[in-house]
Amino acid sequence: MPLHPVREERLNVNHDEGALIERARVSLSRAYAPYSRFPVAAAVRDDSGRVFTGVNVENVSFGLSMCAERVAIFAAIAAGARRISAIAVASGAAELLSPCGACRQVIAEFASGDTPVYCCTADSGETRRWTVSELLPDGFAAPQLRSR
Ligand code: THU
Repeated sequence: MPLHPVREERLNVNHDEGALIERARVSLSRAYAPYSRFPVAAAVRDDSGRVFTGVNVENVSFGLSMCAERVAIFAAIAAGARRISAIAVASGAAELLSPCGACRQVIAEFASGDTPVYCCTADSGETRRWTVSELLPDGFAAPQLRSR
């Protein structure tokens, strides 16, 4: 299926951000989503510019399924990354997706409040941008743990 260009002009994303969104979109074909038929792919950039991708990986025991965002982030961390400077998520659905609550908490662990999170629909290229703190305001964070 041909991919329409990301609507960068509406969002005013820079070249690196556009490239990250594109990496998520082209990874979508690797999603393993036979049960939901809801493919998702993610691409994260770390603070040294490396990009890691992930897809949702479902299981016949549904609760074992893993979201694309966490697969991408865990791949980055396993490769030695510690800070994420941007994340892009693509879905095969017609409606724009926004990351699930569990993924928001995991993103917040390795990102800053102002780190951009892009979500796009692969077909139309419709893209929306949030910051991590918009997605997870007042989230549980390390200082609260240390105040016990
Ligand atoms: N999913 C993701 O990969 N990321 C999200 O942020 C939302 C949901 C996946 C999980 C499951 O494989 C499918 O989408 C339907 O929930």
